[in-house]
Amino acid sequence: MERLLERARECAEALQKQDEVLVVSHVDADGLASAGLVCRGLDKLNIGYRVRIVKQLDVAALGALSDADAIVFTDLGSGHLDLMDSLGATCIIADHHQPTGRSKTAFHLNPHLFGFNGATDLSGSGTAYLMMRALGSNEELSDLAIVGAVGDLQHIREGGLRGVNKLILQEAEKNRTVAAERDLQAFGRQTRPIHKLLEYASNIYVPGVTGNSEGTLRLLRQLDIQLKKDGRWRRWIDLSSGERRKIISALMQRCLSYGIAPQKVQRLVGEVYTLLGEAEGTALRDASEFSTLLNATARYGFEDIGVEVCLGDRAESYTKAYELLLMHRENLVKGINFVKQTGVTRLSNLQYFHAGDQIRDTIVGIVAGMCKSVAGIDGRLPIIGLANAEDGVKASARGTQELVERRLNLAKAMSEAAISVGGAGGGHDIAAGATVPYGREEEFLVFLNKLIGEQVS
Ligand code: C5P
Ligand code: C5P
Ligand code: ZN
Repeated sequence: MERLLERARECAEALQKQDEVLVVSHVDADGLASAGLVCRGLDKLNIGYRVRIVKQLDVAALGALSDADAIVFTDLGSGHLDLMDSLGATCIIADHHQPTGRSKTAFHLNPHLFGFNGATDLSGSGTAYLMMRALGSNEELSDLAIVGAVGDLQHIREGGLRGVNKLILQEAEKNRTVAAERDLQAFGRQTRPIHKLLEYASNIYVPGVTGNSEGTLRLLRQLDIQLKKDGRWRRWIDLSSGERRKIISALMQRCLSYGIAPQKVQRLVGEVYTLLGEAEGTALRDASEFSTLLNATARYGFEDIGVEVCLGDRAESYTKAYELLLMHRENLVKGINFVKQTGVTRLSNLQYFHAGDQIRDTIVGIVAGMCKSVAGIDGRLPIIGLANAEDGVKASARGTQELVERRLNLAKAMSEAAISVGGAGGGHDIAAGATVPYGREEEFLVFLNKLIGEQVS
């Protein structure tokens, strides 16, 4: 930990020397939170900045950065260390993806270099936070570090934030920017009517509730939970703690009575995070909703709006982002329905679906991750979602904790399999992505299947 913080200081010192920087970040919630966090810190230092949000760093994207004297890479960069030295700029990287290649000149902050796992211990925004915090008096930015970690689902594996994330959370709690509590692990605590929250909760499949609006309403009636008050739908935050407990225990009993394993049932409850500086009942008050709102901008080409929200715009940008959030949720539901209808194809060590043009390439990974509770999906195998993209076919892989314990490393497997067909990929052990040339999907999947088999054998 000391060495990680020491490196954060070195990176911060390099940053402090600049008059102007280009901030390059990744087009997802963690990436936008990282960029927003760095820019807010730069504002205080009177360092000028421009922001560029990119899908991935490749030779073409890097070529377009050549006019900058100093570049801060957040939530990406570690996968392209080889390319940094030729940029002719001071490169400062705050990333958490598995590093590949080498750079002699870049200032490189990454949890993997110090014995931490970038899939669970620290996010891109957490890494960026450590760097900005090393400049002193940036502790108020810790809420965005939590939003980024939650956006990358780093709290899911163990039902709460761990590793360096946990230290950041403790700091955030001390500074009263974030409050953590154990509660139902469901999306929409601040904004969704209770019955919708329960119906769409995809964390684990609750028989007769998940995806079942009538069943959900019936359960709530049985429990005597008032759905409306003063003509308005009640949300999870409107319930008393007694009512919440009653619902959670009914959901658990339901799962147990259907023979779902107790350890799995326990995952209904986990750590949830409230951003204390945000207004109650808004999508920004809850870290999970905040991060989904950021994804809803970034994944549809409106990343500037997401960055503005991170920079503090609660008027126009927030309103537009909220509209995008509603559309994004609909698209996720449509995507999951697509998988339900078409099903998946099983190979010995993986299962996949090819959505063609039916699911946007930018959200196919989120859909793949949410499909775990869909009937017909084998919870023990990694799932790969494919969708057509501009530059080839996008593949998104999502594994399980159990497989990672058996040495599954999707970043490695996806990268190797993609390279073998002329594509590229990377990411984390439990979640990774790749782009492969059109028409080479099958070859890619067959090789990926073989590689995964070797990893977990
Ligand atoms: O690029 P980045 O690191 O920000 O994205 C991490 C990805 O890993 C996210 O899409 C997140 O959903 C996924 N993930 C996951 N399960 C975990 C941890 C991360 O699906 N336990
Ligand atoms: O795109 P998707 O959500 O499937 O990405 C999962 C993880 O893999 C993310 O952390 C993403 O940054 C990473 N990834 C990567 N290289 C790619 C595609 C995705 O490192 N070509
Ligand atoms: Zn990230």
